[in-house]
Amino acid sequence: MFKSYFIETYGCQMNVADSELVEGLLQKEGLRHTDKMEDADFIFVNTCAIREHAEEKVHSQLGRYYRIKKQKPDTIIGVLGCMAQHLKNDILENKPYVDIVLGPDSYRKLPEIIRNRVNETNNIVDTTLSRFEVYDDLFPSRNEGINAWISIMRGCDKFCTFCIVPFTRGRERSRSVKSIISEVKQAVSEGFVEITLLGQNVNSYSHGNDGFPVLLEAVADIDGVKRIRYTSPHPQDINEELLDVMASHDTICNYVHLPLQAGNNRILKRMNRTYSKEHFTELANLIRKKLPNVGISTDIIVGFPGETEAEFEETLGVMEKVKFDSAFTFKYSLRPGTKAAEFSDYLPEEVKQTRLENVIELQKKHTLERNLDFVNNVETVLVEKESKRSSSHWAGRTDSNKWVIFEKGTVNIKDFVPVLITAAKGISLHGELVQKEEAIII
Ligand code: SAH
Ligand code: SF4
Ligand code: F3S
Repeated sequence: MFKSYFIETYGCQMNVADSELVEGLLQKEGLRHTDKMEDADFIFVNTCAIREHAEEKVHSQLGRYYRIKKQKPDTIIGVLGCMAQHLKNDILENKPYVDIVLGPDSYRKLPEIIRNRVNETNNIVDTTLSRFEVYDDLFPSRNEGINAWISIMRGCDKFCTFCIVPFTRGRERSRSVKSIISEVKQAVSEGFVEITLLGQNVNSYSHGNDGFPVLLEAVADIDGVKRIRYTSPHPQDINEELLDVMASHDTICNYVHLPLQAGNNRILKRMNRTYSKEHFTELANLIRKKLPNVGISTDIIVGFPGETEAEFEETLGVMEKVKFDSAFTFKYSLRPGTKAAEFSDYLPEEVKQTRLENVIELQKKHTLERNLDFVNNVETVLVEKESKRSSSHWAGRTDSNKWVIFEKGTVNIKDFVPVLITAAKGISLHGELVQKEEAIII
């Protein structure tokens, strides 16, 4: 009876991967995907609760769906993902037009819900979090592409005091190496050349006696996997064993995401980040020593409750020491239910804004400095898409995760090509394709 679904996804790559899982389930039920939400029988939104802004975007989308439903009352609206838990009561009380609310561990219920929808008129709500659900036997429906997201663990037990994820996603649990390997093999056979292993805390992966380095090595040994990335790691779980595995496999990208959050020890402690700024900088140095030319990115939160000007400046100080290749920067956003929501020394918006601008400015300088180091190198670039600025140029990434723009020549998307880096501008590199023969000489 129902024929098509529309799904949109907010938040991190875990949500992107979960949406692919959901699409797999919907397609098994005979539904087909549509790009136009107005035409869809089912509209799903996979939500994110990480910052207030992310939630606001979803609220405004719900308004749009409501307007569609007023025109087409049979439309079924489903809210999935990290806001489900938190929104449950609000939806039941204030948004009766939402038919389905499912948290991240409840997607197996979807087929049954869809089948029964014909008879049901009540809202269906399930936001229970599981200690075990890893969707091991379910294969996602991936759109044809370059990179396959493979979720290897779910949940987070770290409880950083600012963060909602342990509440929205529940406890840490990992899939078996065997089932991950079989999913990777399937993705390779479907033509994906890059594999990104995913988890809220990807490197605290643990299944039986197997830790993250063992899994990473097993994935690297699979024939046909050309590039492997992983995200998002926690500094606490990065060790020499992991770096040695990375150093000894060319297919594992020379890139580490190392979220700093803050550069002052009192604030780090208050955030429950479990490392000191000294430990963090030593770790960054060790990474650079073991993995020459590595790309290191970070996450930084400015204006955490109680952060003084001097403490904030220590964040700039760590940035100066490490010189990250890139950074995701955020103003602290209060998340109800977290430990930090109980603090009382919040900073005014203007202070957070100024600090954010300072961090962004410094990072731009460092990105350019790091990128200038690549000029005159020949880098292997995976051709990923057309450049946004020019239809005669490709955009692709180096294994250190830097975007390179270059003239298309005769190469195609998914090719690995040698590119001579000629300039660093803004946050990207620019280059020229090198003919294979020349590349060998260089
Ligand atoms: N597990 C990952 C982070 C996932 S959330 C890790 O530990 O690195 C991605 C980033 O969002 C975090 O690293 C943090 O910088 C930011 N973030 C999380 N909660 C936030 C909040 N309440 N306000 C502002 N930024 C936040
Ligand atoms: Fe959030 Fe911290 Fe867990 Fe990352 S490690 S998801 S920041 S609680
Ligand atoms: Fe957002 Fe949930 Fe990811 S809160 S960042 S979608 S884990």
